[in-house]
Amino acid sequence: MVPLEIRPVGAAEVDDFRRADLRGFGVAPAAPGGPRTWTEAELDRTRAAIEDGEIVGTSRAYSFELTLPGGGVVPAAAVSWVAVIPTHRRRGVLTRMIEALHADARAREEPVAVLTASEGAIYGRFGYGVAAWRLGVEADRARVRFRDEVRAGRLRMIDAAEAAEVLPAVYDRLRRARAGAVSRPATWWPEEYFARVRTDQAVFFVVHEDTSGAADGFVAYEITGGWDGGLPDRRLRVFDLQAAAPGVRAALWRYVFGVDLVASVAGDDLPVDEPLRHLVTDPRRVRVRYVNDGLWLAPLDPRALLAARRYAPRADRLVVEVHQPDGARARLAVEGEDRDAACVPTTEEADLSCSAAALGAVALGGNRWSELAQAGTVAARDGRTLARADAMFASSPAAASTSWF
Ligand SMILES: CC(C)(COP(=O)(O)OP(=O)(O)OC[C@H]1O[C@@H](n2cnc3c(N)ncnc32)[C@H](O)[C@@H]1OP(=O)(O)O)[C@@H](O)C(=O)NCCC(=O)NCCS
Repeated sequence: MVPLEIRPVGAAEVDDFRRADLRGFGVAPAAPGGPRTWTEAELDRTRAAIEDGEIVGTSRAYSFELTLPGGGVVPAAAVSWVAVIPTHRRRGVLTRMIEALHADARAREEPVAVLTASEGAIYGRFGYGVAAWRLGVEADRARVRFRDEVRAGRLRMIDAAEAAEVLPAVYDRLRRARAGAVSRPATWWPEEYFARVRTDQAVFFVVHEDTSGAADGFVAYEITGGWDGGLPDRRLRVFDLQAAAPGVRAALWRYVFGVDLVASVAGDDLPVDEPLRHLVTDPRRVRVRYVNDGLWLAPLDPRALLAARRYAPRADRLVVEVHQPDGARARLAVEGEDRDAACVPTTEEADLSCSAAALGAVALGGNRWSELAQAGTVAARDGRTLARADAMFASSPAAASTSWF
């Protein structure tokens, strides 16, 4: 068997790297001439699998920040571009690349690796758990009435060029308010976000401004579909809605449902505590299309992760044993106080024992320990311990990541 080399690619290999990634995903070659900010960023963090001079697998990490419960942030390895060309699958290529990515992240002292997955069955084995879920909703526009008047600030429809100025700054302020939110680097926006806006597509940006004229929220949406027998059979799909306050969020939803010549309104990648159904007179009209895995999180350094978040405002202490996929174990005493948290290695008997993937699932409060215990992925001393762990790790607003990468 030809040996496999796992290494970063250089600038001269970027096109080959990209081609292998697109082949792995089974999609058309990238259109020439588009922005390549994201493709060319942080090439030192790429990890290609090379066999006999050919790139057969792609993977990379970007340097992100992840918001934790309490508003602190930790550096995170944001794993992306994971693909193996179809001729080389199920031979352990991905396994080798993930090992290389995690080794690099640990060397950089990033306590977590995060990703958004193409399929839900891939990453559990590598120590990733679903830290935050995403919600998809859809409603028949004609059936939706809002309960109360919403006092909106000023809404302004802006073009993509202005959106490229306004949206990144608004998002960067807001991401600190929700556990699970990740940074969107300056290299991410042009290629991953705005490149989707082609001049032949109906994509729109509306910004909400407060009384002083400062942007405090926005909605980005596309309209697709046509006319059927003289009636507009068109669908408005919100792909990004960010708001600094509940009133701003309500105003943006109200705006969206007020857009004419649209039959249905859909929202993708929303937080699971999305308040839309509470804003309308008939909540059943807001149908849930999916609750999917959103942000996957692998605790590479559980101690650093658990020490960096804040816990529910009640002093408590739990001993958690974490098992990594490579067999390594850490037994940690986690202490939550009003403001400060501590997490230190201990030899005491464990109150809770779980895999790294299960810890990834509860670390941001996006799942409860007791839910996982019911599924058998967490072992606890007793029910009272689970109740204490649930209370200690709970976080509000719900953990969510509304970004894709
Ligand atoms: C997902 C992908 C990268 C896996 O690469 P690979 O080199 O075949 O993976 P490995 O051989 O290292 O697989 C390791 C283990 O994961 C399992 N696995 C891999 N892909 C899986 C999938 N899509 N669903 C379920 N299990 C999967 C393998 O069966 C193997 O299990 P085993 O150790 O029990 O035999 C590859 O199938 C691919 O490129 N898919 C299309 C692009 C894609 O979806 N990328 C992921 C983006 S988030």
